[in-house]
Amino acid sequence: MSTQEIAGTEIAGTTALVTGAGRGFGRGVATALCQAGARVVGVARSSGELAEVQAQLGDGFTPVTADATDPVVAGRLIDRYRPQVLVLNAGASPLSRPIHRHTWESFSRPWEVDVKQAFHWTREALLAPLDPGSVVIALSSGAAVFGSPISGGYAGAKATVRFVSAYAGEESERGALGIRFVSVLPKLTPATGLGETAVAAYAARAGVDVPTFLDRVGPTLTPEQVGKAVVELVSDPGHDRPAYLLGVEGLSALS
Ligand SMILES: NC(=O)c1ccc[n+]([C@@H]2O[C@H](COP(=O)([O-])OP(=O)(O)OC[C@H]3O[C@@H](n4cnc5c(N)ncnc54)[C@H](OP(=O)(O)O)[C@@H]3O)[C@@H](O)[C@H]2O)c1
Repeated sequence: MSTQEIAGTEIAGTTALVTGAGRGFGRGVATALCQAGARVVGVARSSGELAEVQAQLGDGFTPVTADATDPVVAGRLIDRYRPQVLVLNAGASPLSRPIHRHTWESFSRPWEVDVKQAFHWTREALLAPLDPGSVVIALSSGAAVFGSPISGGYAGAKATVRFVSAYAGEESERGALGIRFVSVLPKLTPATGLGETAVAAYAARAGVDVPTFLDRVGPTLTPEQVGKAVVELVSDPGHDRPAYLLGVEGLSALS
């Protein structure tokens, strides 16, 4: 895939919109963007968690209680806020079971949440279109590369999120829209609700306790590191690739 023509967006003074901003990576991303001078609109379904984020970040953070998979929400918020930075971070926590213990409904949940969100918001970003120089960052997962055998359809859904982002990048280039689309593939970490559940399940599957499992894995990501990586992706012109793996060592471009 080609290098994108536009890279490096000044964050201070822009409007950023972050889905899943109530906790975990999304809270880390909202905090980092606020600290870099953006006005941040944060979307999640739990108003209590969004209120906590607002108490922490102040007036620079606008909470919106809504379902990020709803196409009307995507259209309405893009029209209203016209973000220069859009971070599609909300995601379903998959049921941790081996494949034959999934039903179709549990298997496909990440498709109904993560892929549906990526599809609707990416489409709205292209149709608006967002202003030239805008950037849309989609949270995929290292699972999209490595697999995740006890997460049902999660790894495939996250691979599709990466494809949706890359396809949109091609359409942006073809239409000379100047919107950058980037997917980020973080490695597994117990530092969030979703990750803690997954780590506990993988430890149990390996027949070890969580500390032993984490010793084997080595250092893991924090929401602060994810926030810092998103700020780098938005503002550093050197980060012009369509997809990046993210670990404690930082961002590495994927071909
Ligand atoms: N943690 C990891 O190890 C890891 C690794 C790779 C990739 N990721 C990806 O990183 C992203 C963030 O995950 P996380 O670990 O921070 O998870 P988390 O702690 O469970 O947080 C998920 C956030 O998304 C929101 N959300 C979920 N469904 C939503 C919906 N339909 N509409 C609006 N908001 C919704 C949640 O709030 P409400 O429930 O209040 O809506 C919450 O704020 C996800 O896309 C995940 O797949 C995580």
